[in-house]
Amino acid sequence: MTKIAVIGTGYVGLTTGACFAHMGHQVVCADIDPAKVESLRNGVIPIVELGLQELVEEGLAGGRLSFVLGAASAAKDCEIAFLCVPTPQGEDGSADLSYIETAAREIGPVLPYEAVVVNKSTVPVGSATSVERVLGRPDVKVVSNPEFLREGSAVQDFLRPDRVVIGCNDQAAALKVSALYDRISAPVIITDPASAETIKYAANAFLATKLSFINAIAAICEGVGADVNDVVVGMGSDKRIGQDFLRPGPGWGGSCFGKDSRALLKIANDAGYHFDLLDGVIAVNEEQFDRVTDKIRVAAGGDLSKSTIAVWGLTFKARTDDLRESPSLAIVDRLITAGATVRAYDPTVHSMKAGVPSGTTIADSAYSACTGADVLAVLTEWDEFRWVDIAEVKAAMHGRAVVDARNLLERNDWRRAGFDFQGIGR
Ligand SMILES: NC(=O)c1ccc[n+]([C@@H]2O[C@H](COP(=O)([O-])OP(=O)(O)OC[C@H]3O[C@@H](n4cnc5c(N)ncnc54)[C@H](O)[C@@H]3O)[C@@H](O)[C@H]2O)c1
Repeated sequence: MTKIAVIGTGYVGLTTGACFAHMGHQVVCADIDPAKVESLRNGVIPIVELGLQELVEEGLAGGRLSFVLGAASAAKDCEIAFLCVPTPQGEDGSADLSYIETAAREIGPVLPYEAVVVNKSTVPVGSATSVERVLGRPDVKVVSNPEFLREGSAVQDFLRPDRVVIGCNDQAAALKVSALYDRISAPVIITDPASAETIKYAANAFLATKLSFINAIAAICEGVGADVNDVVVGMGSDKRIGQDFLRPGPGWGGSCFGKDSRALLKIANDAGYHFDLLDGVIAVNEEQFDRVTDKIRVAAGGDLSKSTIAVWGLTFKARTDDLRESPSLAIVDRLITAGATVRAYDPTVHSMKAGVPSGTTIADSAYSACTGADVLAVLTEWDEFRWVDIAEVKAAMHGRAVVDARNLLERNDWRRAGFDFQGIGR
């Protein structure tokens, strides 16, 4: 059993804390948001994440998980402190390290002798060294241990990862962190900090590349009359390629891919390499938002300003409540800017929230979003949209057009019901 402090209780920190407590460690999680800490103390988690609520309840009940206000209170008694604070995009594209530095400054004076600090936040190459400098504690080593979990399956991904990456020049510190994962059966890759930090950015940029690639292929499919779904099966059956992250859609988003791709561009640039490929990946993604908006425009008869659009899905992906950098919001923003009336429904968004373009009406069901709509646009792949009663949707809508930007719905059922149905790349 190791005494662990987790600084930051967002998607990564809360999952990390609850999973380590589940694995038998003694975990104290800290945040700067008093309301969040209070709610977590009462066992109420502020995010939607499968299985996390149960793990938090289990940790609290077993006395292995607790929540405190402020990083110093958590760190003063720990052997290992995980930094899980935001690293948003800075003005020049690079990762803004101010949250990391603030947290390091807070814990530096109180960490016990020879504690280990772990960067779990996604941080640029060289951050292990800069955190060491801010801590000002020669006895404390900093380890890079990037996190690869996906929102929507964060707990599963943490407990059953494909690999654990640990970067440190001090072997004893690396082994201390690696021992935390003893009960997890996954390869542990121990390397230097610069390589560990690069692995995280390279992995995210590669996944974004796959998504932009398949969206570009989808555009070609539309031009040549091919079906991208069949192309994916045919391509992805090749073991060298694989089918994961080859689903066409409205563009990629979420809190990480955009900022991490831009941060890698900056890292590359600073290292003297012009990463044109990654520039292209980002440009294709921006185009995809425009392409989907255009499809909706055409489906609406060419003039969005006279149209009502029903939008199904606002989160950046299904099974999360996270709206950060959601492709759906990028498209809703374009629709509203073009004068459309937008009625949106999402299973986890029940009122206007930060990031939702003003002017959007939030509906309380998939059907009520369709009231009087000319076009139905499916923008997030929530399962419940697949099981709707098509006749009820038809009765609610004014028009008969569907743009399914996730290739989620069974198009033949909708066409048989009299809808003009379009997917992506088919
Ligand atoms: N969200 C993901 O899917 C994901 C996956 C892998 C890696 N990451 C990386 O992990 C890091 C955290 O991401 P997230 O999505 O969990 O962020 P988040 O915004 O959900 O949570 C961050 C939390 O840190 C708290 N915080 C900020 N400063 C603090 C301080 N000084 N002391 C204590 N708490 C503080 C905030 O109040 C917030 O609750 C980022 O670097 C991100 O790139 C995220």
